[in-house]
Amino acid sequence: MKKIDRETVQKILDTADIVEVVSDFVSLKRRGANYIGLCPFHNERTPSFSVSKAKGICKCFSCGKGGSPVNFLMELEQMTYQEALRYLAKKYNIEIQEHEESEQERKIASEREGMLGVNEFALKYFNNNLFNTDAGKEIGLTYFRHRGISDAMIERFKLGYALESPTALSEKALAEGYQEEYLVRTGLCSKNERGSLYDRFRGRVIYPVHSVSGKVVAFGGRTLSTDKKTAKYINSPESLIYSKSKELYGLYQAKQSISKKDRCILVEGYMDVISMVQSGVENVVASSGTSLTDGQVRLIHRFTDNVTVIYDSDAAGIKASLRGIDLLLAEGLNVHVLLLPDGDDPDSFAQSHTPDEVEEYLKANQVDFIQFKTDILLKESASDPVARAKVVDSILQSVSVIPNEVTRAFYIDLCSRELKVDAQILRRRLAKLVADGSYKRNLRAGVTPLPQTESGTRNEPISNDENGPAINETAVPIADEVVRERNRALILRPYEEVLIKLILRYGLYPFCDDMNGNPLRVLEYVRQEFSSDGIVFSSADYRRCYEAACELADTTWSEDRKAYELRLPAEREKMLCEGREYIAENGKSVGQIKQMESELSDYIENTMAEAMNKFDARYLFSVLSSGPDDELRKMCTDMVADRYQLSKIHTKFTKVETESERLVDLLPRAVYELKYHILNLEMEDLGKRISQEGKAGDFEAIKPLLQELMERQKLKAEFARYLGERILQPDKLPKMR
Ligand code: UTP
Ligand code: MN
Repeated sequence: MKKIDRETVQKILDTADIVEVVSDFVSLKRRGANYIGLCPFHNERTPSFSVSKAKGICKCFSCGKGGSPVNFLMELEQMTYQEALRYLAKKYNIEIQEHEESEQERKIASEREGMLGVNEFALKYFNNNLFNTDAGKEIGLTYFRHRGISDAMIERFKLGYALESPTALSEKALAEGYQEEYLVRTGLCSKNERGSLYDRFRGRVIYPVHSVSGKVVAFGGRTLSTDKKTAKYINSPESLIYSKSKELYGLYQAKQSISKKDRCILVEGYMDVISMVQSGVENVVASSGTSLTDGQVRLIHRFTDNVTVIYDSDAAGIKASLRGIDLLLAEGLNVHVLLLPDGDDPDSFAQSHTPDEVEEYLKANQVDFIQFKTDILLKESASDPVARAKVVDSILQSVSVIPNEVTRAFYIDLCSRELKVDAQILRRRLAKLVADGSYKRNLRAGVTPLPQTESGTRNEPISNDENGPAINETAVPIADEVVRERNRALILRPYEEVLIKLILRYGLYPFCDDMNGNPLRVLEYVRQEFSSDGIVFSSADYRRCYEAACELADTTWSEDRKAYELRLPAEREKMLCEGREYIAENGKSVGQIKQMESELSDYIENTMAEAMNKFDARYLFSVLSSGPDDELRKMCTDMVADRYQLSKIHTKFTKVETESERLVDLLPRAVYELKYHILNLEMEDLGKRISQEGKAGDFEAIKPLLQELMERQKLKAEFARYLGERILQPDKLPKMR
């Protein structure tokens, strides 16, 4: 396949003007520095779609959609990345230079293709077993028939059966020339100590998982044995082509129906999807038994604004999934909930009713989510006032993540009636939650406050790998470690966010000189500070963003910068000509002309330097916010679009300087605030270890720990003093280790 050259991509990104691009689809009006219009992603009467020419992005403050020109086109017109680029090139008459894929690109592409090819083979193989092998017919097909699944559904979802033999698939695959490497990397096979292959799926019925575009990225295999010790499902592992948190079972088959009906129905399991579809309800997808993720929610939002979540009437399941639903609300979706009659799940309900009855039940019984949540929590808390206050808080939390202000106001009225609490009080509490925003941020990042005592459901975020052998002895300490990491991420996240924002906003902007008088750039500074103290971002999404930024700085930036610089002389020439004309017309004396000429040349040099600075500052953002990676694009837009606000500590020192001038102050401060809190966590850990050793009576072990703690304490005092000072000198910063 031909790919567009990087230089062309950069030229397209440099040229595309967000206002012009959006204007082709939305009628925009100027308001202050921005433009606004009616959001094309959802129905609205008052405009909340804002376009910032300066930042080069658009964003709907109601439904949250938007982004760079490329992102806008991809979302609105369902274009692929390459299609969006080609569209823009055409719009701006940019000649496309393309190339055959490079070795590296080909390698990754061919790895993907190799893995997808093997999966495609396995899909056909499993499916064929079902109809053309004795065991497949007797066991697999009989099972599906037994569960009332029609052949049409077997075909639609490409169901299959894995034979009991440990090498059935691998032998066939190798014989047909598929490579061992891909069999292993997709998880279809593993290697034992003697180096021979064996199959992951044995004696199980198979549910293939398709990506939105219809590629087979994974398989789920259900056991047919009733033995409690056998794992009910075995699933493909995460891989280059499969990220569980980014796929939804059934979406590929459902997406047209979801668009057409403008609603997505969410259930839990493979079988729920299939039975519902069989009964004629086609807009159904499954989260596959885990709590929803931000990525899955955005996937749904590509096709509709409306979601109905179906629950069995089992209360534990409902409570555990309430947070997942808040994610749907935060994405700006309208959420309804449908409770099934006692003892039914979507599968059994669909199987035991006619399609008309199912349709009818859906229509008649879905209720608004906030209403639903209020009802069930109220029922539980009855008349206990303390429990009731908690209910109010929990519901307000859900309301607080809804992007649309009018919708929030509507729910406040509803809650005030239902909870019998004064609306004014609710409004005040809500305003606080909205302003704080930390619940919403953590929700998005998938950080759940832990530990939670009442768990034990499938929604438990930390689970043993269901594919692993038996439970190993280290399971418990590992879980502890995970909890610690999560809590750490939770505490450090706000400080990391400030840094990521600065990096995305100012990228490679030379914000001051280093000790040798060389320009020190924002990202470089953070990198130096991080690597000298061995710091990494604790939140996975920020870490990924940071790594992508570093990679750009190391690879493409300097070349793209040169290319940009080469385009400047023409600009300079033009300014010079215009300036000289002006001087020729207006200069009155030789002295004045000389004066004007020197001013002109200063002016031009300044303008050119500014243009370079602007390029450096915007480079990372412009590439990442227009890149092929969905998650990064979204994060970039969010980080740069929201009215930029640094933490209170920063704003205490209000000097009338532009933010970029204050970077000398802001950036080291942001880094050191993060370090300060890391230090705090380390000290807490040390404290705990000391008290543990103390209890165990091992005083020899305590000595070095105490020593370490004291050193940290000194450092902390130094940091605190430093953070309290107003003007910062990068060369006087304390070192962590
Ligand atoms: P269920 O246990 O409800 O299974 O898990 P099910 O799909 O309804 O299966 P049947 O009706 O017993 O045949 C719901 C979903 O959770 C995931 C699967 O995606 C399943 O469809 N799951 C469940 C696992 O991945 N592993 C498990 O061990 C259990
Ligand atoms: Mn089931």
